[in-house]
Amino acid sequence: MVATQFLYALGLATTALGAPHVEKRAQTVWLAGDSTMAKASGTQQGWGVYLPYSLSLPVTNNAIGGRSARSFTVEGRFQTIIDSVKANDIVIIEFGHNDGGSLNGQDNGRTACPGAGDETCQSTYNGQAVTVLTYPKYLTNAGKALVAKGAKVIISSPTPNNPWEGGSFSYAPGRFTTYSRDVAKAIGANAIFVDHGQYTANIFQTLGKAKVDAFFPNDHTHTSPAGADVVQRAFVKGLLCQGGGFLNGFIKNSTASVEGKCI
Ligand SMILES: *[C@@H]1O[C@H](CO)[C@@H](O)[C@H](O)[C@H]1NC(C)=O
Repeated sequence: MVATQFLYALGLATTALGAPHVEKRAQTVWLAGDSTMAKASGTQQGWGVYLPYSLSLPVTNNAIGGRSARSFTVEGRFQTIIDSVKANDIVIIEFGHNDGGSLNGQDNGRTACPGAGDETCQSTYNGQAVTVLTYPKYLTNAGKALVAKGAKVIISSPTPNNPWEGGSFSYAPGRFTTYSRDVAKAIGANAIFVDHGQYTANIFQTLGKAKVDAFFPNDHTHTSPAGADVVQRAFVKGLLCQGGGFLNGFIKNSTASVEGKCI
């Protein structure tokens, strides 16, 4: 009797263990970027903080001020996301404000090696000899590693500095916009590009100088909370205008309800 009960219990246990393991976990949206995306406080805020209001998926904002494609890589911050993503998670990557500058002289640890491909630069950072890659190379490496884990990648062009600061409206996309577009292509079918800079600039043009100047209370790069919300909506508009991309079905807003025009 005891033996039968034991086998019965064992049988149940085996069945329970053998049942397909269904993980109840929503796809997660991960954010990798700099201060323009990161959580801040007071008069400054990053747009990633407002993105959850437009999506029906959880958002993990790993953006952090002062970082570039290079330093986000070297500090292991991409690796943290690569180690954490599950199949079908979506990773939004946006860099460009801290990636320029020159490696001749003092290396600040953020500047990328000039170029669009496999170029490398030898530099010294913190007393160490380092090999520096190009901006596209850092982002393509990260994107391919994320895709290898089953994630989908959205490469987003950097936000504009205040395009009204000179008095009249002026926005010219920089090389990091071109690079980020090309990075999405290089990663392949599991990556798309959102021209966040252009979408934001177009909305800023429509809003006019007074409103947009008020979005930049401290300097020409960092937005106020209200400005960050507009920048967030511009990103979502860019996504909606290409059918929602990997976030199709998870955007709360209709295309028509979001300000701005498709480009
Ligand atoms: C979508 O709607 C929500 C709730 O009304 C709002 O908070 C969010 O900013 C909207 N997003 C866009 C892209 O308009």
